[in-house]
Amino acid sequence: MFFHRQSDKTDVLKKVPLFSSLNQRQLNLIAKHADEVELKAGKVLAKQGEMGLEFLLLVEGSARVQRNGKVIAHLATGDFFGEMSLIDGKPRTATVIAETPVILLAIHRRSFNYLLDTIPGLPRKILVTLCDRLRKADETMMN
Ligand code: CMP
Repeated sequence: MFFHRQSDKTDVLKKVPLFSSLNQRQLNLIAKHADEVELKAGKVLAKQGEMGLEFLLLVEGSARVQRNGKVIAHLATGDFFGEMSLIDGKPRTATVIAETPVILLAIHRRSFNYLLDTIPGLPRKILVTLCDRLRKADETMMN
């Protein structure tokens, strides 16, 4: 087990860019809704075409994002994924595969929606990352 106490989770969440501006109470709330998952390299963390059940935060390790078998992005410690299917209620847009052993925090759909509704500024921060990913995808398409 990576997190021995709730406060360990909060300490890690504080260092994640998505949550860096949150206060202690908000971090505690997220920690309460986040479950630790440890997986080996090579494991599929999200599968293209399947309905998403959770939002995932990469606490340690790295992963690749593949669409139709082609690698479209890499994710590293502190990155999140799995938000798209939860936000639009459609199937996963890509497959995410662990490239190293990974430690994840998983937030179930219902908790994710609750946190988005409860923590001001969080939806906007997720939007900023979505914009960034769209810009990168557009740039890749143009080259
Ligand atoms: P979702 O569609 O729920 O499941 C697959 C996830 O891969 C997706 O959410 C995003 O979090 C992530 N993803 C999809 N496309 C990209 C991309 N171009 N760059 C980074 N991450 C991506």
